[in-house]
Amino acid sequence: MTSDEYNGDDPVSRRDFLRGGLGGLGGLAGAAALAGLAEPAALAAGLHSREAVAAQLAGRRPADVKSVGLEPGRVRLAFNENPLGASPAAIEAVLRHQDWMNRYDYTTTLQQAIIRHHDLDIPRPSGFDFKATGDRHGLMLGVGTTELLQILALQALMKHGEVVEALPSYGQITRVGDELRDAGHAVLARKSPVLPDGNHDLDDMGRQIGDRTGLVIICNPHNPTGALLPHGQILDFIDRVPPHVLLAIDEVYVDFVRDPAYRDFIEVAKERENVIVLRTFSKVYGLGGIRVGYAVAHRDVIYRLAPFSMGLLGRNVLSVHAAAAALGDEEHVRRSRQAVWDGNDYLTAELERLGARVIPSHACFLWADFGRETQRIVRQLWSRQVMVRAGAGQWASPNHIRISTGSREENEAFIWTLERTLG
Ligand SMILES: Cc1ncc(COP(=O)(O)O)c(C=O)c1O
Repeated sequence: MTSDEYNGDDPVSRRDFLRGGLGGLGGLAGAAALAGLAEPAALAAGLHSREAVAAQLAGRRPADVKSVGLEPGRVRLAFNENPLGASPAAIEAVLRHQDWMNRYDYTTTLQQAIIRHHDLDIPRPSGFDFKATGDRHGLMLGVGTTELLQILALQALMKHGEVVEALPSYGQITRVGDELRDAGHAVLARKSPVLPDGNHDLDDMGRQIGDRTGLVIICNPHNPTGALLPHGQILDFIDRVPPHVLLAIDEVYVDFVRDPAYRDFIEVAKERENVIVLRTFSKVYGLGGIRVGYAVAHRDVIYRLAPFSMGLLGRNVLSVHAAAAALGDEEHVRRSRQAVWDGNDYLTAELERLGARVIPSHACFLWADFGRETQRIVRQLWSRQVMVRAGAGQWASPNHIRISTGSREENEAFIWTLERTLG
């Protein structure tokens, strides 16, 4: 059978193995014997359950996986989603507010929760406004961080004409610039190649800034590389950027940073008048489908951006309550972060075993360089129900694959399938 003909079936399925072979051989002792281990050795090796023993012996395949929020048998490691699911507090909040679905949302629940979370000096947010401002601080909600990126790009391009973003990157800023340019508008999205270690090349970004530049965006930790720039380097860059340029710091992955000494940029955004920080509920809180993000900046920045927003009616009566509840769910944040860290350790070791080079990740995905073209590998993985992202195309990185960190089962099934795909 060639790898192209692969259909996910194996001569002996893991379920058969569990039902027959393993049971017949007397559970753990039998399985351990099969693995060539004495039972105590099996226990010491971490083979504590039938499930674990079978996974070790037979390998976890896509067909064995039941992911939260997906049909069984699918392994989706393509969109940096939270494999544990939504914060249980958020689910409970949605259920509590299900009778509100016929109503528009005029509460301040979410603004108040974010104001408390970041200690913003905004005493009186209004339920009739999507933004909230105090004497200095400003807060703006968005339909995911994506809407806020769209707003930032539109405002900067209309007023100034140029923006600067890394390549590869999430790319919303450059996407807006390129599409407007293709439509005949006199705007330019400048792309700054990342360094070999996956970090922004701040010197190059600085050189690309000119009189027409309205916005520079830094994503930290960066998507798709997972690399993290030290706080101090970005601070130095902020000091060097001319005052007419707004610096956006996209921190949607900041909760996964592994360096305990790292400081985020919320406090900087509260003090400086040309820095805006973006956050989302889509990642560590597990609410990607709920669509809520927010920005913190000086109030004047928020006022400048406001005309480009969908405004109050971009707000969704269920999402605001889900997001507000998730913000207080520290246990889910802790569990999600740990699951990602454990998953990254496992995936990094396995990918390196299979010959890929992996950048140490501070986010919920890995950027793996296979040293050869990966598009065909990725196509085969998709045909085997394993979705990951190829580096070719938008990211201009044909030898790379970005793998979102999944649950343990998803990660194992990905590696099992990748190993058979690489041949
Ligand atoms: C770097 C980055 N910024 C922003 C977003 C948008 O997130 P959302 O619109 O779900 O808040 C993503 C999504 O994956 C991302 O990777």
